[in-house]
Amino acid sequence: MDAGEAQLDSIGALRRTHAAGEIRSEHVGQRVVLGGWIQRRRDHGGVVFVDLRDRGGLVQVVFKPDSSPECHARAGQLRSEYVVLVCGTVAPRSDETVNPKLPTGEVEVIADEIRLLNRATPAPFAIEAETDADESTRLRHRIHDLRRPPLQRALRLRHELYQATRASLAERDFLEIETPMLARSTPEGARDFLVPSRLQPGEFYALPQSPQIMKQLLMVAGFDRYFQIVRCFRDEDQRADRQLEFTQVDLEMSFVGVEDVLEVLEAVTVAGCAVSGVELPRPFPRMGYREAMDRFGCDRPDTRVQLELVDLSDAFAESGFRAFRSVVDAGGIVKCLPIHDADALSRGQIDKLESLVRKELGGKGLAWIRVDAEGGWQSPIAKFLSDAERAAIAERTDARPGSLIFFQADEPVRANAILSRLRLDLGERLGRVDGREWDVLFIEDFPLFEADDQGRPTYVHQPFVAPHDDDLELLESDPWRVRGTHYDVVLNGVELGSGSLRNHRSDLQRRIFELIGYSKQESEERFGFLLEALDAGAPPHGGFAFGFDRWAMVLAGASSLRDVIAFPKTQRGQDLLMDAPSEVSAGQLEELSLRVRRPRREG
Ligand code: AMO
Ligand code: AMP
Repeated sequence: MDAGEAQLDSIGALRRTHAAGEIRSEHVGQRVVLGGWIQRRRDHGGVVFVDLRDRGGLVQVVFKPDSSPECHARAGQLRSEYVVLVCGTVAPRSDETVNPKLPTGEVEVIADEIRLLNRATPAPFAIEAETDADESTRLRHRIHDLRRPPLQRALRLRHELYQATRASLAERDFLEIETPMLARSTPEGARDFLVPSRLQPGEFYALPQSPQIMKQLLMVAGFDRYFQIVRCFRDEDQRADRQLEFTQVDLEMSFVGVEDVLEVLEAVTVAGCAVSGVELPRPFPRMGYREAMDRFGCDRPDTRVQLELVDLSDAFAESGFRAFRSVVDAGGIVKCLPIHDADALSRGQIDKLESLVRKELGGKGLAWIRVDAEGGWQSPIAKFLSDAERAAIAERTDARPGSLIFFQADEPVRANAILSRLRLDLGERLGRVDGREWDVLFIEDFPLFEADDQGRPTYVHQPFVAPHDDDLELLESDPWRVRGTHYDVVLNGVELGSGSLRNHRSDLQRRIFELIGYSKQESEERFGFLLEALDAGAPPHGGFAFGFDRWAMVLAGASSLRDVIAFPKTQRGQDLLMDAPSEVSAGQLEELSLRVRRPRREG
């Protein structure tokens, strides 16, 4: 091949006049200089066609042997992903060669000069919208992956979302203030990433899980309204909607109540979504945490799915069916997901669901009842049910011929999680989704405490959440019933963000630390600087943090955060492009006073 020998040119004084993807009929007759990458080259009996790609898209460039022979000869040396500058004149395409699929498809550029600025190694996969390359190949070759249109679009959308949220907050008088990355750990429920200190041997910084405490300190310091588009670090298990490092639009306001914060959140959410042309209904619908859990089994329901859960725990309190009764006796629940007109689900599919529940979702089983055309019940559990239980099920689920009812008897958390997963899967599979494209919700009235593994109170969101004023008395008498001032924004079933009012008085904050089991000494050690700050004259304050990557993911219609982050990490926390994490030199460890004890490798 002669390609390797193709001579490279210098860019010299030649500069682009237009973007390749922006050439339209209005440019016909103009001489243009375009720069970009060779998407494709086709030789058609003498004439060479090249698709030139840049950030804005593709345009067809034509090299004709008769009009500019030298330029045409060089075009023969072009290969995919080579970098070029092309000079030429915009011409209309003939009717039969117009390409309606390309925004530039009505025109082409007739080249008269080409500069080859760089060669390129062959791409590991085609730079097309669709790819069948697996994800690790895409992440290893992220540069090529990022050249693909969906990622180009996603990062542009991200950019627009930054600008819109920033403008919307700045307009409302929020000041953008940076907080340290080398910080002290704050409790957001995940493991910290630690950074060893060279100057203080044996001591560590923690990368912030969020700027929570810092923004509270800024309120005490009188900044009134703060925001930051900020990286947060949490060493937790990776999922499609979690990354080790992710971005928040973090904000905090002084002298406010819940409604003031929600008003800002609504405005910012609307402004952000507008970058994708999304119009959200206002005011945002609201739902209490309890209602969300009861009806949908999760605190971030996608209410477009027209299926709801039904609680039957009380009906099984005295049951003869041991599997259910024992769960209720142990404080668990029996809940079901009724689906009417469900004949489309075959017995084989039901068995597959049962195995999914047992093997992947950690459930104990998946009992079901199908009502046949004659009203008879086909079910692996019908024979265990009393008449009263049958009557309760029939009445509360509105069972009728064609109905299929799935049951979970388990601890509330697991039963709800499994049924809510089935609700979404089956709702989609059976087409039980209403026509709304966008579903936004405020979730409110979360409890302040939930039980930890040992049944003791722990915080639901974080330890700084202020209780509802009306529930202050219950802190002593019945802490489980205390509502927090915590609120979430949910968009299409994704928790977009969370926030609350904070404890601005140190006595109340101390009391809450005590209730969640921190000793006085522990509270002082971990949060002494916060308590001291509250005593320095903290105004009432509250705020919120949007999960920025999740927001971009939902707006981009992506199903993984990795599709809206330029250089994301894999499920196992690796950056396959840079090959991080990696070992470091003995000298570096020495400097940090660290010694590594190698984990024993398997196999
Ligand atoms: P919270 O912990 O709920 O609240 O985080 C706020 C939002 O950040 C997003 N998020 C994540 N996104 C990607 N990967 C992760 N690992 C990840 N973890 C969280 C979610 C979540 O709703 N300081 C409080 C906010 C406050 O009270 O003001 C906080 O960090 O979308
Ligand atoms: P078994 O008595 O274990 O054969 O269970 C009878 C049926 O009830 C099977 O369809 C199981 O999948 C289902 N089942 C058993 N335990 C539970 C449970 N805790 N929750 C829901 N279904 C269950």
